[in-house]
Amino acid sequence: MAKVGIFFGTDTGSTRKVAKQIQQHLGDELAAKPVNINKVEADDLLAYDYLILGTPTLGEGQLPGMESDCSEESWEEFLPNFDDLDLTGKKVALFGLGDQVNYPDQFVDGLGELYDYVAECGADMVGHWPIDGYDFNESNAVDDDEFLGLVIDKDNQAHLTDERVSIWLEQIKAEMGL
Ligand SMILES: Cc1cc2nc3c(=O)[nH]c(=O)nc-3n(C[C@H](O)[C@H](O)[C@H](O)COP(=O)(O)O)c2cc1C
Repeated sequence: MAKVGIFFGTDTGSTRKVAKQIQQHLGDELAAKPVNINKVEADDLLAYDYLILGTPTLGEGQLPGMESDCSEESWEEFLPNFDDLDLTGKKVALFGLGDQVNYPDQFVDGLGELYDYVAECGADMVGHWPIDGYDFNESNAVDDDEFLGLVIDKDNQAHLTDERVSIWLEQIKAEMGL
């Protein structure tokens, strides 16, 4: 069985595309096919020692879900599962999609929110990412001048996505010991 589980939320499909790109880059032996978080139970995450979780930011700095007017259930509805999920010993990396031009004051806030939930479950968090190359005012996804995970802005910097994904995957493979 593949070692890395990839789970994502999405509204218009961009986060799914990045999740697929990540899986293809890692390959079938290492990573399972990405699954929408609205299709899984909490236990499905526990099947993997390594997790990559992705989310866009919607609404006003929110995770996707019915409350953010997302077209389907998503991370927001999954959140109660984190209350009693034990991720101790698991290495987890996050990626987030956002739009720094139209939402410069809430840029990828959803990534920051998801990080807090996952870290609270005892996971060993990896995959922080430099803020250089992005132009925004505020983000809940920044700590110590670094993003808490890979940040992709397909709305304004689509041309940088492939390169960012490749560099980040080499980084997290080393950090995860894969
Ligand atoms: C209604 C709406 C609200 C959004 N709010 C934010 C936001 O608060 N912060 C941000 O960084 N991006 C925001 N975005 C941009 C999305 O995160 C971005 O377009 C993302 O690529 C969408 O991913 P998806 O196709 O997987 O849903 C918003 C987009 C829409 C349509």
